Amino acid sequence: MIKELTKAVEDKSIVEQLHYLAVKFKGKIAFSTSFGQEDQVISDLIFKNNIDIKVFTLDTGRFFEETYKVWNKTLEKYQKTIHAYFPEKEEIEKMVSEKGPYSFYDSVENRKECCNIRKVKPLARALQGVELWITGLRAEQSQARHDLGYFEYDKAFEVIKFNPLRDWKLAEVVDYLKKNTVPYNVLHDKGFVSIGCSPCTRAIKEGEDIRAGRWWWEDKTKKECGLHDPNETAKIAIEIKKIK
Ligand code: ADX
Ligand code: SF4
Repeated sequence: MIKELTKAVEDKSIVEQLHYLAVKFKGKIAFSTSFGQEDQVISDLIFKNNIDIKVFTLDTGRFFEETYKVWNKTLEKYQKTIHAYFPEKEEIEKMVSEKGPYSFYDSVENRKECCNIRKVKPLARALQGVELWITGLRAEQSQARHDLGYFEYDKAFEVIKFNPLRDWKLAEVVDYLKKNTVPYNVLHDKGFVSIGCSPCTRAIKEGEDIRAGRWWWEDKTKKECGLHDPNETAKIAIEIKKIK
């Protein structure tokens, strides 16, 4: 299937690819946005071309104010729906009551617990019934993403992932947003490149790795958040399937 899809889209423009996949996976195709610059490119393509792809975000409750603003601007500009998925309230209440609001700084284990509750489990819900999951991942973003496929099978969520911006450079992303007057997160103008939750993201200095501002207090090798690491998400995906 991966080979077949890659062949089917290889000579198509990105808009044609999205149209093609929206028809092929009708009702079973979704794009996840965290309102970062890459995601804003994809939202713009989907919304302005009226492509039938569900767009959703995982609202962790810890986004930057600036992220909520670009979310709202996006709604105003395109007048389309962005589905919001929230964490389970019992799980958040338990974790924060027992460990406080900054437990993630104390250990990698606590950080993963928070990411699992706030992002991975809601993602598993958002992907129920979905066969093709579109993301804004780019190969250039980190060492761990260098071998990123255009299409990949995510064994944890049992979906095919499509990373249409895999080969885009950061400059191309920025250029697209400018040329097409797409709303973007103003934190990008303040040295933030990869933006996640506010307590876990900071600006980077020139020459630093694109993802150096994410979970900066942790050992570099342990830093992939989990959403895109099936080894991390597998347990959660199994748990969710049991509940279903
Ligand atoms: S992360 O795994 O470290 O958080 P990153 O911020 O680089 O990922 O984003 C990569 C892609 O993951 C985004 O383009 C988007 O498709 C998806 N993503 C990350 N965070 C979220 C979120 N909170 N809601 C929806 N999608 C997200
Ligand atoms: Fe929690 Fe930080 Fe992960 Fe957000 S990025 S879910 S605040 S640990």
